[in-house]
Amino acid sequence: MTSLIAVLYIIAFALFIYGLMGLTGPRTAVRGNWIAAVGMGIAVVATLLTPGMSDWVLIALGVGIGTVVGIPSARKVKMTAMPQMVALFNGVGGGAVALIAWVEFRTTEGYAHEPVYVAIASLFAALVGSVSFWGSLIAFGKLQEMITGRPVTLGKVQQPVNLLLLVGSVACGVAISFGATSELLIIGLLVASAVLGVMVVLPIGGADMPVVISLLNALTGLSAAAMGLALDNTALIVAGMIVGASGSILTNLMAKAMNRSIPAIVAGGFGGAAVAAGGGSGEQRPVRSTSAADTAIQMAYASRVVVVPGYGMAVAQAQHAVREMADLLEGKGITVSYAIHPVAGRMPGHMNVLLAEADVPYERLKEMDEINSEFAQTDVALVIGANDVTNPAAETDPSSPIYGMPILKVNASRSVIVLKRSMSSGFAGIDNDLFYDPKTSMLFGDAKSSVGDIVEELKAL
Ligand code: TAP
Repeated sequence: MTSLIAVLYIIAFALFIYGLMGLTGPRTAVRGNWIAAVGMGIAVVATLLTPGMSDWVLIALGVGIGTVVGIPSARKVKMTAMPQMVALFNGVGGGAVALIAWVEFRTTEGYAHEPVYVAIASLFAALVGSVSFWGSLIAFGKLQEMITGRPVTLGKVQQPVNLLLLVGSVACGVAISFGATSELLIIGLLVASAVLGVMVVLPIGGADMPVVISLLNALTGLSAAAMGLALDNTALIVAGMIVGASGSILTNLMAKAMNRSIPAIVAGGFGGAAVAAGGGSGEQRPVRSTSAADTAIQMAYASRVVVVPGYGMAVAQAQHAVREMADLLEGKGITVSYAIHPVAGRMPGHMNVLLAEADVPYERLKEMDEINSEFAQTDVALVIGANDVTNPAAETDPSSPIYGMPILKVNASRSVIVLKRSMSSGFAGIDNDLFYDPKTSMLFGDAKSSVGDIVEELKAL
C-alpha cells in the first residue's frame, strides 16, 4: 500500500507541475487548471488510502460540504469578483492549516512526544495560517465592499501594536516548543496571530490590494508546507511549496510592476493616508464630451489607434464588441494595438484573459514598457473603462496614493477618448487629471453599448 501511495503522489506532483506550466499562457490555462485539479484529486485519494485513516463519516461530510459550497460559488462568480473569491478560498486553506496544528496540539498533548522539528513546524503553520485566514477575510470584505476599501489605521501606534502581537504570538510558540502544554498557549498564539492578520490588512487600501492578496496566497502555501513537514505528508509539502513559491514570485512581480516595496505595503506606510485624503474629489472642472459618431470618424481618419482596456471593459463585458471594432478599423488600414497594464482590472492577466476570450491576436497586446514609447506616434488612444492605470498623478503628484506606480502614458497620444459611465473614480478612489486634459474627450455610457454604437457608426462610414 505504501508504494502505491508513493506512486500516486509522484503522479500527482508531475500533474501539478505540468498543470502549472499550462497556466503560463491564456490559451493553455484552462487545460492547465484541469490537469492540476486532476493531480490534486489523485493526491486526495492517495492520502485517504493512508493506513490508519478513520472517521469516514466525518471525511465524507467535509467533502460533501466543500463540494456543495465550492462548486456553485466557483461557477457563479463573475470574472470581476475573482480576486475576492481567490482571497476567500486562499484564506480557508490557511484557516484549515491553523486548525490542524491545533488538533495536533491536542492529540499529542502539546507535541510532548514529538521531535522538536514537528512542534516548530506546527507552530509556524498555526501562526502563519491564522494570519493568512484572518487577513484574507479582511481582504475579501474590502474587495466585496462589505467593509471600507480605504485604509483603516491606528496611526502611530499601528507598528508597535503589530510588533506586540507578533512577539506575543511567537512567545506562546516558544513556550510550547520548550515543553509547556497548556492549551491556553496555543489559543493565545492563534488569537494573537488572528488579530495580527486583521491589523496588517486593514491599513492597506487602494491600488495595493492585489499585492496583498498574492502575498497572503504565498503565506498560505508556506503554512501548508510547514504542516506537511510536521505531519510527514509529502503531498502537503509539495503542494504548499508550489503555492508558496509561485505566490512569492507573483507578489514580487506585482510589487515591481506597481513600483512598490513589499515591506512598505505590509507596514501599511505606503499611500495609506493619501488614499484616505484623496477619494474622488468631486471637484467641478470642465470636461469635453463626445459622441459615438464623432469617435468613429476620429478613429477612421487615424493611422494608429491604441485601445487601453481596464476594469470597466470587464464589467461591461465589452471585449467582443471591441474586437469587432478593431476588425473594422483594421479593414480600413488602421493599425490597432492594445496597451496592457500589469494591474489593469482586478486580477493579474485580467485583460489578457478577456481579450484572448474575444480571439484578439496575442501579438497585438503590448506590455506597458513597450507601448509607452509608442503613444507619441498614436493618433487616438481609446481608453475603455480604465482609470487608475492611466492617471498622470502617479507621475506628477507626490501626495497621490498611487504616486510612483508606473502608468500607461496615454496623455502622450495626439488625442484621447475615454469610455466610461460617469466621472466616478476607479479602484484607488481618486480623481484623474487625464479626463480634464484639453486633448481628452469623454464618451459617457456603458462600455459595451458605447463600443457597439461606434461599431454601427464605423459600418455606416
Ligand atoms: P479602475 O481604476 O478601477 O477604473 C475602472 C473604471 O471603469 C471606473 O472609473 C468606472 O468608471 C469604469 N467602469 C465601470 N463599469 C463600467 C462600464 N460598465 N462601462 C464603462 N466603464 C465602466 O480600473 P483600472 O484602470 O483597470 O485599474 C485597476 C485598479 O484596480 C488599480 O487601482 C489596481 O491596483 C486595482 N486592482 C487591481 C488588481 C489586479 S491584480 N489587476 C486587483 C485588485 C485591485 P464609471 O463608474 O464612471 O463607469
